[in-house]
Amino acid sequence: MTIKIAIVNSSSFGKYFPSHMDRLKKLGEVDRFEFSKDIRGKELAEKLMGYSIIIASVTAQYDREFFEKKDKTLLIARHGIGYNNIDIEAATEKGTFVTIVDAIVEREAVAENAIALLTSVIRQVGLAWRKVKEGKWEERAKLIGYEIKGKTVGIIGFGNIGSRVGEILKYGFNTKLIAYDPYLSSEEIIKRGAEPVSLEELLKNSDIISLNAFVDENSYHILSDKEFSLMKKGVFIVNTARGELIDEKSLIKALDEGIVAGLGIDVVEGEPIDQHHPLLAYKNVIITPHISAYTYECLSGMGDKVVSDVEKVVKGENPDNVVNKELLK
Ligand SMILES: NC(=O)c1ccc[n+]([C@@H]2O[C@H](COP(=O)([O-])OP(=O)(O)OC[C@H]3O[C@@H](n4cnc5c(N)ncnc54)[C@H](O)[C@@H]3O)[C@@H](O)[C@H]2O)c1
Repeated sequence: MTIKIAIVNSSSFGKYFPSHMDRLKKLGEVDRFEFSKDIRGKELAEKLMGYSIIIASVTAQYDREFFEKKDKTLLIARHGIGYNNIDIEAATEKGTFVTIVDAIVEREAVAENAIALLTSVIRQVGLAWRKVKEGKWEERAKLIGYEIKGKTVGIIGFGNIGSRVGEILKYGFNTKLIAYDPYLSSEEIIKRGAEPVSLEELLKNSDIISLNAFVDENSYHILSDKEFSLMKKGVFIVNTARGELIDEKSLIKALDEGIVAGLGIDVVEGEPIDQHHPLLAYKNVIITPHISAYTYECLSGMGDKVVSDVEKVVKGENPDNVVNKELLK
């Protein structure tokens, strides 16, 4: 029986490295799908009926309803690290391996985009570029920024990416580095180069805050009214992790009050957003459309991993980086 492989809502997989597609086509029939991010589980299951392998992006939602309606699915391979769009319990009950890319593959790309966002927002690069394009070179004296050197940088979530963001800012820009991560020991945080602090201390002392935590019930809206009220007035915030870490209403209030002097984000709650999103009204906000992992180096590594998972599953072997380890043979 021919194996059918579906690539769902991925704008990058197989597009830049044709060898990844060639390897998949050796295994079976490969089709691309583009669904609305809000597609219901039932409809998604109907559309993907017969596809036993799915290469999944950050959308659609593979919820319980999807797994209840879907026929046998051997593998959902995330072309990425996060998997909060997949109901792992339901996948496990159905016997579907869920795999993710090894976080290290995305480390450098995401960390470097955090730095790009920070340097852009702190020096108003986007705004300055717009002035030049509009023929307003002479307005340059209005575009005064800040230096990063010597500032206190607070990293929330000092894991794979956060520790690299910290490393670049500490050793490249001579910043003071503090980090809050309740799941890491103080010794580990110190070993990774930062001073361990409480969330409150971090908020009170940071000139720059980088969000690099994963989202769960404890970190959801970790920056909300109370947290913004503790921050230094004029703080710069970078978020390359997940939009859900920030309560947007509180953020907008903090921008209006000048608590947040600049915001550089790659992720927005409820993304993708359109051109009417309230954050776009702010000159001191720069947003990239979830592109942090989009480097050629990273895409090559991610694609290799996904294809290798598919190859292994087709051969009846365990894939790598399985989320639902109960299924490992
Ligand atoms: N923008 C992108 O394209 C992109 C790409 C890759 C990863 N990400 C996101 O970046 C984030 C970090 O990825 P990673 O590879 O470093 O993951 P990781 O698991 O190595 O690091 C996350 C860290 O956050 C910490 N953490 C969890 N809850 C916390 C909380 N409440 N407060 C403080 N720290 C907390 C964890 O202990 C962990 O050390 C994830 O949310 C991931 O989804 C985004």
